[in-house]
Amino acid sequence: MKFTSLAVKLAAIFLMVAAARAAESPRERTSIDFGWKFHLGDDWPNALHLDKAGSSGGPASASFGDATWRTVNLPHDWAVELPFDSSADGGHGFKPVGPGFPHNSVAWYRRKFDLPKEDAGQRLWLEFDGVFRDAEVFVNGWYIGHHESGYSSFRFDITDVANYGGNNVISVRVDASKFEGWFYEGEGIYRHVWLVKTAPVAIAPDGIFVYSKFKTAVPKGPAEIHVQTELGNWRTNAAKAMVRCEILSPSGKVLATMHRETTVPAPGFSEVEQTTRVAHPELWSPESPKLYRLVTTIESNGKIVDRKETEFGIRTIAFDPDRGFLLNGEHYELKGTCNHQDMAGVGAALPDALQYFRIAKLKEFGCNAYRTSHNAPTPELLEACDRLGMIVMDENRLLGSDAQNMARWNGQIRRDRNHASVCIWSLANEEFSVQDSPQAASVARTMQDFVRRLDPTRPVTYASPEGDVFMGVNSVIQVRGWNYHVGSDMDKYHAEHPTQPEVGTEQGSTVSTRGIYTNDATRGYVSAYDDNAPSWATTAERWWGYFQPRPWLSGGFVWTGFDYRGEPTPYSWPCINSHFGILDTCGFPKDNFYYYQAWWTDKPMVHLLPHWNWPGREGQEIDVRALSNCEEVELFLNGQSLGRKTMKRNSELKWMVKYAPGILSAKGFNGGKVVAETKVETTGEPASVQLAANRSSIKADGRDVSVITVSVTDSEGRVVPVASNKIHFQLDGPGKIIGVGNGDPSCHEPDQFIAATPFHTRPVAGWRWKRVANVYAANLPETAEICDDSTWQSADVNSDSGPLQNEDRAVFRAQFNVTPEDLNAVSIDMDFERIDEDGTIYINGQRAGESHNWADPASVDVKRFLHAGTNSVAVAVQNWNGPGGVNKGVLLQFGEKPAPVDWQRSVFNGLAEVIVQSEKEPGEIKLTATSDGLKAGEVQLNTAP
Ligand code: GAL
Repeated sequence: MKFTSLAVKLAAIFLMVAAARAAESPRERTSIDFGWKFHLGDDWPNALHLDKAGSSGGPASASFGDATWRTVNLPHDWAVELPFDSSADGGHGFKPVGPGFPHNSVAWYRRKFDLPKEDAGQRLWLEFDGVFRDAEVFVNGWYIGHHESGYSSFRFDITDVANYGGNNVISVRVDASKFEGWFYEGEGIYRHVWLVKTAPVAIAPDGIFVYSKFKTAVPKGPAEIHVQTELGNWRTNAAKAMVRCEILSPSGKVLATMHRETTVPAPGFSEVEQTTRVAHPELWSPESPKLYRLVTTIESNGKIVDRKETEFGIRTIAFDPDRGFLLNGEHYELKGTCNHQDMAGVGAALPDALQYFRIAKLKEFGCNAYRTSHNAPTPELLEACDRLGMIVMDENRLLGSDAQNMARWNGQIRRDRNHASVCIWSLANEEFSVQDSPQAASVARTMQDFVRRLDPTRPVTYASPEGDVFMGVNSVIQVRGWNYHVGSDMDKYHAEHPTQPEVGTEQGSTVSTRGIYTNDATRGYVSAYDDNAPSWATTAERWWGYFQPRPWLSGGFVWTGFDYRGEPTPYSWPCINSHFGILDTCGFPKDNFYYYQAWWTDKPMVHLLPHWNWPGREGQEIDVRALSNCEEVELFLNGQSLGRKTMKRNSELKWMVKYAPGILSAKGFNGGKVVAETKVETTGEPASVQLAANRSSIKADGRDVSVITVSVTDSEGRVVPVASNKIHFQLDGPGKIIGVGNGDPSCHEPDQFIAATPFHTRPVAGWRWKRVANVYAANLPETAEICDDSTWQSADVNSDSGPLQNEDRAVFRAQFNVTPEDLNAVSIDMDFERIDEDGTIYINGQRAGESHNWADPASVDVKRFLHAGTNSVAVAVQNWNGPGGVNKGVLLQFGEKPAPVDWQRSVFNGLAEVIVQSEKEPGEIKLTATSDGLKAGEVQLNTAP
């Protein structure tokens, strides 16, 4: 007896120690992007119940059956899946979403996950990087919170409602009925979701801030490194904690260590400041993106309770009224682009690799700065900018010092302030209705002062559409931002406000279509010469020619780097995307790419436009232009010189050339020597399809992507610049196509092909019912697998009401047959059109689901409870008011295997793009492209762990 009780005591002590140890284990940040269930449609409009905790209905309830829903991985944008619709908003890309399209604007996502028992005692957070737009989040049927705004990250503490040692379910109702911007925004959980576990004493969310300082304006000598660490304590007692910091060099060498002890009140937060020095810092810049690492370790009670790594850069930034933007103490011309976050094929849901792809594309033409117009970016974009070297203007969505907006602003600054790339904050863009008012000045001042408190290292601007106007926001803003107004307004303003630094927040704006050389309003194309810009904007040559000689303007950001969905200026339908890009929606360069490459990079180059396929125009004059940074350019047609011309800085050269098929070529000269050459050739007819991958080896992690360029070439392998062949794609191996595009601003072909998930249904008939005293009791004989219901009354569950009266309680039962073939279905749900009012559903005596919502249908995943032969269903119903019961029909729904998908896309002016994503298992992927009458193309990708 004694022995046993000692053993029990010892076991109990062991368990307590184990639990304490488990509860103190350092943070884990787990991606929960895979395996979400998705349903488009507002089919449970009454799901949210705020009267009783845990009583929300439909997909919000924990036991809801979602087996027949589509499975999706995040990031996911459902707008890109929908067809184009001429009656939808053109600004948003003619997708039938938002106001006027309620059936496409609400969707549900559900995701299950297991938690080990040992996690009890940990802090658990659910983090969303971005959901468009309003999100209602439930965990295990509990209402966890509401978030508005499609661009800000948010997190909920789910510690209390998590189920430790069992299954958990997240339900998210996403309501995108309202627009937030005037451009394509995407819909759904279009960024990552994370489950974060920490010990109860841990680094607070976004609780680390690391920055560097120098004694002198020009960074010479050692850098002072400042680290602020905010700790949180969710225990009941105050906790002593030791904060240890290590600074690692770009090559991984430990350069400095610091430690400091603090006491964290309970519950509460405390902040620790630490400083150290790095003697010979390697400075961060776009040309040399050196990143240091801060490793923060927290010890409490002699154990490591938290550990976090933070990448940061050492550099100085300033905006000077005379010298413009200063990076590391020297004038640095911002050669920037504004960008929205969407891309061909995938809409707003970009796998991380595409962020890197896009930043690398921008760098190809000398772009060194990126404005996240007009919203907080996804964190992975900033990571790509840190690592590849790209300065960021980090923009907020809306001007406002109200509590909600300030909470979002706070979140954005705390989240993004460690990024080396972020060099300036932007309060908002073009707030026409308010910007010049005294109130706007006050609001801007509040937002700007708030930045100084959280981040004393970076200045603040506002993308102002005003000219020489010093009122409202412009009168208080640290750095005056200029959207357009190239010309004398700027010189006047500068003379009148000589102490206010300035920057071109939004400039240029040539509208052009890749490979098109005549404006064509019917088809929605604008010529690719640098000739066309909207009335409020300018061409590339005009703005850059003005800004470049005025260093005090700091350079600026072109509207835009990439074409984006929506805003089809200067046209409307059938155009569905913008024409402002230097690159099209796929990232294929338009001719203006070479204008910027000429003047934004130092490497001698020459580019000619247009293409040289003009059958039928022999002898007619063609407008030929050379884009080059060489001192002189000489043009040749079929080997004959058409003259050498001197290039004016920031300009281009023109010739009118009588067309003859063949080779148009150019040589660029510096100091009389040929330093660059180019040619365009008349091609033959389309003969084959070629595929080329931007990366032929990708990670087998289900996330990584390769971007495949599809080109239609003639028999000599030259891209046919006018080809428009339709191409079909087939993928074999452990990968999938996630999107296709071609950069055509008027193309209505789908970017995504979603496999239809066919299903068939069968009614469940032969119902009987009987009153019972307490339907909530467990183990009711009436809900058991087998129960003799022959004496019960028969029930018509297809009627529009039911046999129950006010406050009646009853069990409804039926038997149904399931064949072995039925059990081969991918999923089996039982769908109840209406249970009036509260119902618990049992399949073969096992609790399978519930319904708390008389107005909405209930669906239960029943496959796991079924067997071949006779099965039973019982529903214990609590009716409250009026007639009720199980009514309007009960169906079994059998999900079938998805049908195969025929991915296809036409090339536009010779080119298209396919985005291929890996699966989790490694192997060889083969992508084949076929087209009528053309030789097929093929590319192999290798995916490795
Ligand atoms: C600007 C605005 C951008 C975009 C652009 C189109 O004024 O800031 O978001 O709409 O016009 O030209």
